[in-house]
Amino acid sequence: MNIILLGAPGAGKGTQAAKIAEKYSLLHISTGDIFRANIKGGTEIGKLAKSYIDAGKLVPDEVTCEIVKGRLTEINDGFMLDGFPRNLFQAQELDKFAKIDLCLNLDVDDRLLLDRICGRRMCVCGASYHVSSLGGKTACEKCGKELYQREDDNPQTVGARLETYNKQTSPLISYYGKQNKLATVDCGTMSPDEVFGCVVKVLDKFIK
Ligand code: AP5
Ligand code: MG
Repeated sequence: MNIILLGAPGAGKGTQAAKIAEKYSLLHISTGDIFRANIKGGTEIGKLAKSYIDAGKLVPDEVTCEIVKGRLTEINDGFMLDGFPRNLFQAQELDKFAKIDLCLNLDVDDRLLLDRICGRRMCVCGASYHVSSLGGKTACEKCGKELYQREDDNPQTVGARLETYNKQTSPLISYYGKQNKLATVDCGTMSPDEVFGCVVKVLDKFIK
């Protein structure tokens, strides 16, 4: 099973991806994580990506598509794309090098997103928290390392990221809808576990 996780910044793609990857043994490929690893490693791709990410814009398609194409040629099993494709060009390119079975769209009210993103705290181990659930703690509950905030998780960049999503990424909802490959989970104010319950229902039905 090859799936795409679609959703606005802060919709919960990364949160659900971790749960889905574990339950369904899918390889999780996050273009945002790949770019952040490149920025940390000081690579040429990282240097290029940083200016776009800091501005809340999309990293150029040719760079992004090459990275994903490269990753997908290395794997034989099912995969889950988180944050790719992000516009119609990327979706059409993806169709040339991979077969997508399902696009899972996480639908969250725009008004919840800013608080979620600006309150997010990350750990190098991959864990993610919201300040409201940390009770003042600054270390990761899983590995004890100090938590940090993503550089693009500030109100100004988040505004630009949401605009980019609405203009360039949201048309993918109808792109996959027209192909009968779309399943939307209306997340409302559900907790991550409740959202995962809905995701499991969709995926189990799809697999059968
Ligand atoms: P990327 O890393 O993909 O960021 P994003 O799409 O903006 O999404 P986020 O990672 O911020 O949110 P998420 O949906 O994963 O939510 P999460 O689960 O963490 O991309 C970053 C940048 O890289 C882009 O802006 C772009 O510049 C570049 N880029 C990436 N891909 C690209 C591409 N294909 N082409 C070009 N450029 C590209 O949850 C968020 C918070 O909410 C957390 O605190 C979490 O704990 C909390 N939360 C999650 N679920 C719930 C819930 N149900 N209830 C309450 N809180 C919740
Ligand atoms: Mg994410």
